Amino acid sequence: MKKNIDSRVRGNDIRISKILVLHGPNLNLLGRREPEVYGSTTLDQINKNLMTRASKHNLTVDCFQSNCEGELIAKAQSALTNYDFIIINPAGLTHTSVALRDAILASGKPCIEVHLSNVYKREEFRHFSFFSDIAVGVISGFGEHGYNFALEYIINSSLQRS
Ligand code: DQA
Repeated sequence: MKKNIDSRVRGNDIRISKILVLHGPNLNLLGRREPEVYGSTTLDQINKNLMTRASKHNLTVDCFQSNCEGELIAKAQSALTNYDFIIINPAGLTHTSVALRDAILASGKPCIEVHLSNVYKREEFRHFSFFSDIAVGVISGFGEHGYNFALEYIINSSLQRS
């Protein structure tokens, strides 16, 4: 009981149960797309791994990929009422989309930004992100593991809150 009161006072008593994983444009091609940069694991495999791991902790993961900015915006908006935490790889929209950033902010939910590649080792236009300053944290350069690291953070946060 005391623990519950303490965590409420700290303002971190939001229960985490549903996580939204958003994948931006071209990530549907993972496994075939520039494997030397993005690895050989498919998006389907990444999603399945996340769902399996989350279910062991009674967390639900919904994964959504789109090549259309508007569809990603609509899904991010749905986090306002349907999700507690967002993991997002905005892909090319990382470097261009004020509108997707605004949708994440509008959802009011914490997010973690993930990139398969180390964007800082690449072209300069990839060094800027519209999401990094609104994210809890950024994971870049660990391939598919980056998604797992993000989920582990959320699992640990949810354990501290229970
Ligand atoms: C990416 C990096 C982006 O610069 C790029 O446009 C992508 C994927 C990554 O996961 O490394 O599509 O977000």
